Amino acid sequence: MSHKRVAILISGGGSNMVSLVDSMTKDHPARPCLVLSNDAQAGGLKKAADRGIPTAVVDHRPFKGDRSAFEAELLKPLQEAQPDIVCLAGFMRVLTADFVSRFQGRMLNIHPSLLPKYKGLNTHARAIQAGDSEHGCSVHEVTAALDDGPILGQARVPIQADDTPESLAARVLAWEHKLYPEVLRRFAEGNRSPVLLP
Ligand code: GRF
Repeated sequence: MSHKRVAILISGGGSNMVSLVDSMTKDHPARPCLVLSNDAQAGGLKKAADRGIPTAVVDHRPFKGDRSAFEAELLKPLQEAQPDIVCLAGFMRVLTADFVSRFQGRMLNIHPSLLPKYKGLNTHARAIQAGDSEHGCSVHEVTAALDDGPILGQARVPIQADDTPESLAARVLAWEHKLYPEVLRRFAEGNRSPVLLP
């Protein structure tokens, strides 16, 4: 059985990357082929290396905001790894439409809100601020518009009266670790029907 090759892009601790990697075993239709970061200090790089996955770093800072130049460099380890699917997992650089178009229909992202609500940053604080009763996370296909592509899965998390952005973020993150692997498995099987948790 030939497995789909999955590259995972991270910027930080990589807890979502770990949940994806640890799910790709046995009869799973995919296997990780690369973990790529824009930060050499990203804690997820060691977690990936400890799991025997090739890693690479392309630091965005020397490019001083020149996204095309940064992305031209970012493409090199990706072209070498030849992924079938690219997963953004806590990757905090906004990608250009040109870069996204190279992976159209095969790049996924996890976002900590119930899209289309709260695109961008500080989603937990904004949901609490708005007085929402529930919040959650979404996995979507990546398109040129930020946090905007077709939704492939969502997990709903009730907001508690005494929630802080930190306590809510922790509960949402636990659901991210369940949602993303389930969506990836289906996506690798060619099934785009949405996963709705719990
Ligand atoms: C997650 O909450 C993810 O939704 C957001 O950044 C956080 C990254 O966490 N984009 P980790 O690096 O996967 O632990």
